Amino acid sequence: MNLIPIRDYVNGCSSYIIGDEISGKAMVIDPLRSIGHKNYVISAAKERLYIEVVVDTHVHADHYSAARELAEEIGIHVSMSENAPNDFQFNKLWDGQVISLGNLEIVVMHALGHTPDNLALKIIDRSRSSEVVSVFTGDSLFVGDVGRPDLVYESEEMIKNAINDQYNTIFKKLLVLPDYVEIFPAHSGSSSCGGLFLSPKFNSTIGYERRFNQFLRVKSFEEFSDMVIKTLKPPPVNAKSIREWNLGRSIELYRGNSQ
Ligand SMILES: [Fe+2]
Repeated sequence: MNLIPIRDYVNGCSSYIIGDEISGKAMVIDPLRSIGHKNYVISAAKERLYIEVVVDTHVHADHYSAARELAEEIGIHVSMSENAPNDFQFNKLWDGQVISLGNLEIVVMHALGHTPDNLALKIIDRSRSSEVVSVFTGDSLFVGDVGRPDLVYESEEMIKNAINDQYNTIFKKLLVLPDYVEIFPAHSGSSSCGGLFLSPKFNSTIGYERRFNQFLRVKSFEEFSDMVIKTLKPPPVNAKSIREWNLGRSIELYRGNSQ
C-alpha cells in the first residue's frame, strides 16, 4: 500500500491518497480546495498511481472540499455516505460496502457522531494480510481527541444524541479493532472540528489512543459527554456557508473561487 498524506497545516486538515502500487489504482480521501484539485492528480501520477475513487468522509463545515472538482476532472462522481444530504449527484456508500482497488480492500463504516454522514474507512492490504491495517476515521476518533458533535445539530437534545452516536462509534466500532491498527483522521492541531486536546500529530494507533486518549479512558457515557462539552473550541468561522457550499447549494461560488 502506498500512502501519501497531503496536509493544510494552517487549518489543521489532512487529506490522503492511498493506492495499490501493483495495479496503480488509487483513492483520494478528503481532498482540500486550499491544496487545489489538480495537485492530487499530479501527486498520484508521480507515484504511478491513477485515481479511481474520490471520497469525502463527511460534509465538511470548516473548509471547502475539492472532491467535486477532482472527481469532475477525472470523469467520475464523488463517493460519500448514503446519509449525506448533498444537492449534487454522488455515489452513495453504505455501511459494510467493500471497494476494491487492486490488492486494497476499503471497507466502508458508518461512523456517526460528528455528523450523521461521517464515514470511517477500514483498509485491508491483501498483498500483506487479510487483517485491517489502517482506518481513516474522518471526524470520529482523532489523535488525543474526538470529533465535535455540534456543527450540524442545533438543539441541545440533538447534540446529546450526536454525542451518544460518537460514543457508540468509538467504543463499539473502532475500539474493537486490534491495537496495531493505524488511525488517520481528517484533522489535527489547530482544526476547529476537534476540541482542546486535539494533537498536532496526524496519525496514531488504536492501541496508543486506547491507552492515552482521555476520551477513551472514561468510565461512562455521562463522563464522555461532559468532557466533550467542556473541551469544545469556538466553532469554525463561516461554518454554515462553507457547509452549504460543500452540499452543492452555492453553485455561483463553485468555479473560480479558491479557498
Ligand atoms: Fe468535520
